[in-house]
Amino acid sequence: MEQITIQTDFAKDTLEGLSSRAKYLSSKYFYDERGSKIFQDIMHMPEYYLTDCELEIFNTQKQGIYNEFARQQAHFELIELGAGDGLKTKILLSHFLNYKADFKYTPIDISEEAVKNLVTDLENEVPGLHVNGQIGDYFDLIDDFNFNGHIKKIILFLGSNIGNFNEQKSLDFFNQLRTVLNPQDQVFIGFDMKKDPDVIMKAYNDPHGHTAAFNLNLLRRINDELDADFETKNFKHQEVYDPQTGAAKSYLVSQIKQKVIIRNLNQTIWFKAGERIFTEMSQKYDLNMINDLATKSGFSIVRNFSDRRQYFVNSLWNLKS
Ligand code: AVI
Repeated sequence: MEQITIQTDFAKDTLEGLSSRAKYLSSKYFYDERGSKIFQDIMHMPEYYLTDCELEIFNTQKQGIYNEFARQQAHFELIELGAGDGLKTKILLSHFLNYKADFKYTPIDISEEAVKNLVTDLENEVPGLHVNGQIGDYFDLIDDFNFNGHIKKIILFLGSNIGNFNEQKSLDFFNQLRTVLNPQDQVFIGFDMKKDPDVIMKAYNDPHGHTAAFNLNLLRRINDELDADFETKNFKHQEVYDPQTGAAKSYLVSQIKQKVIIRNLNQTIWFKAGERIFTEMSQKYDLNMINDLATKSGFSIVRNFSDRRQYFVNSLWNLKS
């Protein structure tokens, strides 16, 4: 048999996921250039309520948020993980600056384009702001955070990004974060809450087809980067929501019995008709779940900020003393 070398994490993870008995792919690979553009479309569609809810929280409670951020130390640094286009954060940044707050903003994103655009945008839209854009995987960059022990750091992890981790990954993430935080530091996390299942289903199975395109783009990415021959029309996006656990899961369902050749992996993958690839978890929470997660990760809740419908919560945490 021909020997092949698996070059990238994407190749390695794709091989592992598609050779597994219950097939899966990681949603972290959604965000190539095309996927990032589709995600922008998702965030702008009315069915994807998450964006509006967080905007509402920031618009209506920016002063309360500032009071908490500046409570012990007027000087602070905001570090945003996965900042993207910073649409929502800009509301806080402008408010803080108008208020003559003494702070610095460090947006981190894996996409070089996103960071460059955000820094240029902020220079124009929020003049006078100290921005220090960083490109990279925030899991790798977390360990460098402790560079300035005496300045209070507030880690922003917005937009329910935490929901894309399973429970173990969330715990690992907060544990890693805890190792670089000082006692005065805080984390500010966006949680999407459990709600009417119809509302959730419309957000993740939208009538415009953006979410389906987002999910199917993963197969196109495998075609492009690993020289595969997925026929995307032979797969269908499927969303399943369990109101009990709050797990919203995305799948790609094979519409026929078919085989796919992935040349760079030297693999042929067989699909039965109806067989699914699990592609994304978007966990929904309730207040007890947020509290449990904070406690298990060594944090305690300082304050929860919610929108008027209580669809979304931005939760501010301290290290447990
Ligand atoms: C980035 N993340 C919080 C989104 C979510 O809601 O889970 C990704 C997404 N997937 C489908 N629509 C949006």
